[in-house]
Amino acid sequence: MSYQTEVVKADYKGSLNSQVLKEKGLELLKILKKDKAVLKAAELLKKGEIVALPTETVYGLAADAKNPSAVEKIFSAKGRPQDNPLIVHVGSEKQLSSLIKGDISLKAQLLIDRFWPGPLTIIFNKGAQVPDITSAGLATVAVRMPAHPLILAVIQKSGLPLAAPSANTSGYPSPTKAQHVYADLKGKIPMILDGGSCEVGVESTVIDIRGDKPVILRPGAVSRIKISNLLEEEVILNSSHKKRTAAPAPGMKYRHYAPEKNLYIFRSEDIRELLQKISQKKAAVIVSKQTEIPKGIEDNIKLLKAFSRKEPAQLGRKLYSLLRELDADPNVEEIYIEKIKAEGIGEAVMNRIYKAAAAESHRDPGGGENQ
Ligand code: TXA
Ligand code: MG
Repeated sequence: MSYQTEVVKADYKGSLNSQVLKEKGLELLKILKKDKAVLKAAELLKKGEIVALPTETVYGLAADAKNPSAVEKIFSAKGRPQDNPLIVHVGSEKQLSSLIKGDISLKAQLLIDRFWPGPLTIIFNKGAQVPDITSAGLATVAVRMPAHPLILAVIQKSGLPLAAPSANTSGYPSPTKAQHVYADLKGKIPMILDGGSCEVGVESTVIDIRGDKPVILRPGAVSRIKISNLLEEEVILNSSHKKRTAAPAPGMKYRHYAPEKNLYIFRSEDIRELLQKISQKKAAVIVSKQTEIPKGIEDNIKLLKAFSRKEPAQLGRKLYSLLRELDADPNVEEIYIEKIKAEGIGEAVMNRIYKAAAAESHRDPGGGENQ
């Protein structure tokens, strides 16, 4: 299907954290439900169309989660393999109940009360109303309540739970700006709702709490430590499992988050050595503000002091945008990025960096840590 893709700006900028949204959300949503861009998006979705919408993490490509032919359009626009299930976005607990089998468990309720709306996706047993295509034939469904007022307004206005993967071409870094979506999906979708830049920048935490111990299938801004403190038990990070037998998050086996150009990871203490090694190359080097840069760098090296080591969330917010920018820069042939501590949101940021660096189109950057 080919479309004239319209980018429609909402009369609203930025996202809110879940606390503010809890306090001021109702008032704001009342106003936003009258926004022309929100109304247009809701109308298209009700007609079974797909629309790109901002969330607090990344832009999503949304469709009515209960309409198989609408969901099918998501897979074809993204070029996404059909065995990779989608996350369903809801605006209320009532809507969640309409998607799952059985009651909301005690653990799930604790997580919901603390982290929704926000970047936490929870795996539930799937109810009969969710078509197979949405959950890729699994008996489970992944659900989250996003914290971006624009997608919440669209969900409320349309009355639909929205299946939405990241709105990028499959395999490429997720979009954190409307322009990124346009670059990937122009002509393939009817509308992009432009809500500015995404606040978090990396995709939501995906957690499965149905078993003995909670397992994080994909780390995100809601960190393992925060969840562990709340539930008062150990939380396992799936990617730290040495023995990965069956792939628990089906999407894990695909190439992810990767720019076309080779991406390498280095330690800040190795900066001098690195700059010598790549002195003849057209390379971009992403470093922290705290890293001491030796004098006399070659002109062919593009040095980007992009973040503070004290604020790993900054790198999260910018990561995909930087990778896309550098990928498009004709003066850059290779990209190097400084390693940060895999703690808190740093765990999610390093997870994405390792995946992007280890993409099959790349040479092995060494170190053996990437997977
Ligand atoms: O922040 C986000 O989560 C963004 C925004 C748009 O909400 N969405 C997103 O969706 O990142 P996507 O499709 O790019 O990633 C969804 C991940 C995949 O790794 C998928 O395999 C996993 O969630 N997933 C979905 N349903 C699942 C299920 N039933 N069981 C296990 N993993 C599931
Ligand atoms: Mg994705």
